[in-house]
Amino acid sequence: MQKIILVFLFLVGYLFGSEQGLELFKSRGCASCHQPSVEAFGPSLKKIAKAYKGKREDLIRYLRGEAPPIVDPSRAGIMEAQLTMVKDLEEEQLLALVDFILSFEKTSEEQ
Ligand code: HEC
Repeated sequence: MQKIILVFLFLVGYLFGSEQGLELFKSRGCASCHQPSVEAFGPSLKKIAKAYKGKREDLIRYLRGEAPPIVDPSRAGIMEAQLTMVKDLEEEQLLALVDFILSFEKTSEEQ
């Protein structure tokens, strides 16, 4: 019984985490330039997630302005201006946002 409760709590935490990431992504205006799987003004989330596969720490550092861009450095200036939108995020919120972005690595739709 205890195991079931633990699994349940884990699932709720997981769902809540990704929900928070999605909310932040929308409320901070990221969605106006980034689409799930098609290129918009900014690269797709799928493309970003693939570039950062296995590099979660790098993505965290990038969003904090501590690591260089790796997806489309030729247009990095546009995105760097957006980083002010996430400067005030708490650690937990930033991680939710990062995990939300990384979850698109397995999006199956075509780019
Ligand atoms: C004005 C349009 C615009 C908005 C708004 C925007 N981005 Fe971007 N983003 C871009 C462009 C253009 C690039 C490609 C440049 C680059 O890769 O550095 C990019 C690249 C990125 C990258 C990849 C960086 C890399 O390593 O190269 C991440 C991660 C990212 N955006 C996350 C976000 C998040 C999170 C938000 C919301 C806070 C956001 N973007 C808002 C245009 C935008």
